[in-house]
Amino acid sequence: MPVFARIREDIDSVLERDPAARSRLEVFLCYPGLWAVWYYRLSHRLWRSRLRLPARLLSQVGRFFTGVDIHPGAELGRRLFIDHATGVVIGETAIVGNDVTLYQGVTLGGTGKGNGKRHPTLCNGVFVGNNANVLGNVTIGENSRVGAGSVVLSDVPPNSTVVGVPAHIVYRNGERVLITDPHEVKDPLSDALIALSARVEELEQRLGGQPQPVEPFTAEAAEREAYRMQLDRLRQYVSMGEGI
Ligand SMILES: CC(C)(COP(=O)(O)OP(=O)(O)OC[C@H]1O[C@@H](n2cnc3c(N)ncnc32)[C@H](O)[C@@H]1OP(=O)(O)O)[C@@H](O)C(=O)NCCC(=O)NCCS
Repeated sequence: MPVFARIREDIDSVLERDPAARSRLEVFLCYPGLWAVWYYRLSHRLWRSRLRLPARLLSQVGRFFTGVDIHPGAELGRRLFIDHATGVVIGETAIVGNDVTLYQGVTLGGTGKGNGKRHPTLCNGVFVGNNANVLGNVTIGENSRVGAGSVVLSDVPPNSTVVGVPAHIVYRNGERVLITDPHEVKDPLSDALIALSARVEELEQRLGGQPQPVEPFTAEAAEREAYRMQLDRLRQYVSMGEGI
């Protein structure tokens, strides 16, 4: 694809995704995340031509001007949009598909343990919120979303939303996912939860009653629904602004 057509495609993809972007000229002049991608493309060419040191040097120049540190060995797809740019780090063996959006502070890094392919793979259409960390050779499936501030340490299936530290799935294929089994909690404290729930079950049995098959989290789901309805009502009165 000719260089100018590629640049135009990049700019148009920002206009599509950022409601704060008003014109092509504004995007060209004011989006360091795009400049970072362009620096990367040049340094990646050098890298592939085995000019490793010049490639690293150019990527450091790009980092100086954009605040984005992309290793020239990484493989990035088309229409990558790095919004607000500052603090994004993309490691050497990371693979990023097409139409991916990353916010400021995102790290696609290694865990510090492995060699070889040690950085994540993001499939097409993935969205990663600000200051999220995706660590190790994990795969984020197509069109999945990673919440702001999350730490992802394992694979994420396609069309899912993950949040938290460590991240867990809250939506899959548009359906809310609730954790009802403590064995599914990914957390250093999950052993304590498992032990606690086993103890409650044991105590229920000792009291002679059969554990009641409760529909899990019914009350919480209703509360959440009421809260969302209230938020929707408030939105009619309060203008939140767009495109932070
Ligand atoms: C992850 C995200 C995409 C989910 O959006 P959504 O589909 O509208 O999801 P919801 O708001 O319904 O949240 C689902 C649940 O996850 C929780 N959640 C959402 N985002 C979270 C986050 N980043 N960290 C921890 N929990 C989060 C919500 O509290 C909610 O829990 P609850 O239902 O028990 O109350 C969004 O919250 C997010 O983090 N976006 C990133 C935005 C960003 O980076 N902006 C930068 C602007 S400069």
